[in-house]
Amino acid sequence: MASYRALCRLHLRGQGSFMTCVQKAHICVSRSVGTKVVATQAEDSGKDEREEKAGPKSLSAFLVERQEQAERSVLISCHPKTSEKKFLKYLSRHGDIKKHFFYDSYGTYAVVEFSTQDGVRSLLDAAVIPSVSHESAVPFKSRLLSLRTTGAVNQSDQQPGLQCRPQSTVPISELIQTLARQETVDQQIMCLTQAYQLTEENSRLRFLVCSLLKDIAAAYFPECTVKPFGSSVNGFGKLGCDLDMFLDLDDISGRDVQTPKSSLSVEYQMKRATSERAVTQSILSVIGECVDQFGPGCVGVQKILNARCPLVRFSHQPSGFQCDLTVNNRVALKSTELLYLYGLLDRRVRLLVFSVRCWARAHSLTSSIPGAWVTNFSLTVMVLFFLQRRSPPIIPPLDHLRQLAGPADRSVIEGNDCTFVSDFSKIQLQTNTETLEQLLNDFFEFYSTFPFGKMSINIRKGKEQNKPEVAPLHIQNPFETSLNVSKNVNSSQLERFVALCRESAWLLQQRDAPPAGAADGTPPAWGLATLLLPSQVGGVKSRRKRKREPASERIKSLLESLKSKNSPKNS
Ligand code: GTP
Ligand code: MG
Repeated sequence: MASYRALCRLHLRGQGSFMTCVQKAHICVSRSVGTKVVATQAEDSGKDEREEKAGPKSLSAFLVERQEQAERSVLISCHPKTSEKKFLKYLSRHGDIKKHFFYDSYGTYAVVEFSTQDGVRSLLDAAVIPSVSHESAVPFKSRLLSLRTTGAVNQSDQQPGLQCRPQSTVPISELIQTLARQETVDQQIMCLTQAYQLTEENSRLRFLVCSLLKDIAAAYFPECTVKPFGSSVNGFGKLGCDLDMFLDLDDISGRDVQTPKSSLSVEYQMKRATSERAVTQSILSVIGECVDQFGPGCVGVQKILNARCPLVRFSHQPSGFQCDLTVNNRVALKSTELLYLYGLLDRRVRLLVFSVRCWARAHSLTSSIPGAWVTNFSLTVMVLFFLQRRSPPIIPPLDHLRQLAGPADRSVIEGNDCTFVSDFSKIQLQTNTETLEQLLNDFFEFYSTFPFGKMSINIRKGKEQNKPEVAPLHIQNPFETSLNVSKNVNSSQLERFVALCRESAWLLQQRDAPPAGAADGTPPAWGLATLLLPSQVGGVKSRRKRKREPASERIKSLLESLKSKNSPKNS
């Protein structure tokens, strides 16, 4: 294992401010999807500075803060021409409002965070049951409300309409044009990340949906919590990504049983089942039924109980999120924590992961539908592995993070050692000053020549290992080490991946500087923008056989093919 000398402490330690910095940087992509202008209260800038001094927040601290905000929040459907002033005046009668914003998703909605839960309670006390003439309402009360306007909305009173926060990405064609206007590949990569990463509001909305779900599950399990995991919180989420949630019953599962202090004690009588899986299935079956029958805004509920990890899948219409609910999925939470930590160690990790994920999506290497293709999770692990293999490494192997762990970090889940350090300040990184452009290019080269036939990708060791099984692509699960996270990938998908890596490395090397603008003012695609143009492996092979032709000719033909084939893509 590479020795991690104290060359520098948290390479971009000021990068606790990275998230802040990205949010503050000028927005280089003008958003146009289902949105108007951006507006909410100014953020508390003093808070940013305090956070910067304290260093990056741990995932658990972040979860606690967001969950607490969500508990004090309500989601209100309202008319787009509602007067914001009147709306806030009305709600303020119930309590001080800490934050609010509006967004569009099958209608206009407001997320309103009160300063205390009393505000929520007072508002709910004042809410009335809807009068429905031809149907019957299911009398389940929740924090999803509708604003009733009796003659208050006057369409002709020059009301400008509510200003909505964007909750989806710009179409890829628009992104490509914006990237083409940047001066360096590094700028393009930052621009892409700014355009695609989850916004503060989208993150709050995700926690609010978890909190609404918790209210439903609490009918059976009053002490439960519903926590987001996966890309909603690991730092790699793209606007529009699914919302992975797990119903946390740890406090009532009997896992952390305390030895009674006195000689007499009582215990709950509980029904027994044959296995933990059977318990999970029955809980999800009942909660799934509840969500389906009683959950306001929850549609298309599917109970997928025989999967390796049983889940309930549904759409939450008011937020537009595709939701996956699991139970006590603690290993997945650990993977989320690990990815979150790696993403904050060095700012290049997130930037590279965003670029690679977006590139893979643009070429249909990944899909929102499960299948024989590589998943975003596997792709992220591949980027992490590549960054561990740099010289000097940009991030340390998981085994090193395990060695740095203290007693409080110890975690064994179902026999799997999931221990790793949580204190960022204990991790010392080596100095590596490679640019993003260099890294992106080398990522494609690295995987164009990786010996997939013999070797396995292993972020625990930070080194490739002999493949223990015959699957075309073997990526060791970081915590359940006998498992392959890319078991589903077939050889033709892997071949496509390798071919596209080869093509992309080649394309990136074709031009050193951005080209001059076209006569009609449309900048030609170059650098990362070119890599996001749909291309086909057949075309790639024939192009590679040809002698190098002037880059402008190739890009022109790629742009021609884009005109006929490109359509907005959102995953
Ligand atoms: P997108 O939803 O595609 O944006 O990415 P994601 O990271 O959220 O992936 P996904 O929704 O497929 O899975 C959610 C989380 O479950 C991941 O972030 C991982 O923590 C975990 N996960 C997904 N697939 C695997 C797998 O094959 N093995 C393990 N151990 N965990 C997985
Ligand atoms: Mg996900």
